Amino acid sequence: MPADSGIAEAASVLRAGGLVAFPTETVYGLGANALDAEAAARIFAAKARPSFDPLISHLADAADLPGLVGEVPPAVAALVERFWPGPLTLIVDRPAAIPPIVTSGLDTMAVRVPDEPSARALIAAAGVPVAAPSANRFGQLSPTRAEHVVAGLGDAVDVVLDGGPTRCGIESTIVDARGERPVVLRLGALPVEALVEAVGPVEVRPGSSGQPVAPGTLAAHYAPRTPLRLATAEPAPGDGRRGFLAFRERPADGGWAAVEVLSPDGDLTLAAARLFDALHRLDAAAVTEIVAEPVPEVGVGRAINDRLRRAAATWH
Ligand code: TXA
Ligand code: MG
Repeated sequence: MPADSGIAEAASVLRAGGLVAFPTETVYGLGANALDAEAAARIFAAKARPSFDPLISHLADAADLPGLVGEVPPAVAALVERFWPGPLTLIVDRPAAIPPIVTSGLDTMAVRVPDEPSARALIAAAGVPVAAPSANRFGQLSPTRAEHVVAGLGDAVDVVLDGGPTRCGIESTIVDARGERPVVLRLGALPVEALVEAVGPVEVRPGSSGQPVAPGTLAAHYAPRTPLRLATAEPAPGDGRRGFLAFRERPADGGWAAVEVLSPDGDLTLAAARLFDALHRLDAAAVTEIVAEPVPEVGVGRAINDRLRRAAATWH
């Protein structure tokens, strides 16, 4: 359904305990009523997601946060004030209204307000917080178009709202700002530099595995079906069967079965917006391997490289 005209019906599906995939500014989410444990359980089933991987709850408006969680720590409130709506997920104490299945039993909850008008309208119309992971099967590429959702989840979802390609193309940055110094748990669409400028030094600690605090930080994640490896300075010449994911320039050697260029102008924001779409296309091109060129390690480039490394780790 179109994201604008489908909102009323999608909201009633959410209220009735169903699953609605919807666009956000980052990636498409697979939403359910976050106050309803049974509805949340459907998300885990549809995604084949392990129960230890907690969900992000989405609100229509920053003003709704205190009503749900009570008093908000000042450092968290400062980030809310500065960056919501937007691609920043914050960690707060789990309120009693949110069933433990949503947070995988953690006593904390991840929450954000998406910067996408149709998503906020949907959540407002549903009248409940909406738990939504990325609308893909666990461990696979995140969806940046409604077509990706349909191809990946099919009948497991009741409604897919189509708002076209997402603007950021990469997931939200996750920050725990409850302690002395904010900790970045997942690199994402909001660059670390923007956080530092707003609140001073932060600690970047993605990928603390073991008991993963943010499984989006599992070493192996965000993977295409095709084996992916990172290009070295001298990528081996194409053998006519492999695909190449380039940052700015097509490889000089023409022996690649498929080539995707993220941004000829070297614009990292654009590269992030195109990343998963390009990987979905290389997957569809049925190449034997994807060779991916890392991008400059600045701004949202850090999150792009993070996703490429995790995709590559799946195949080692
Ligand atoms: O941009 C996004 O964040 C998208 C859109 C739909 O909002 N959502 C998304 O959700 O990427 P998902 O489920 O694919 O990733 C959520 C990440 C997981 O790595 C999860 O472990 C982490 O958030 N997370 C959720 N609750 C947490 C908590 N209480 N503490 C630490 N990490 C948490
Ligand atoms: Mg995900």
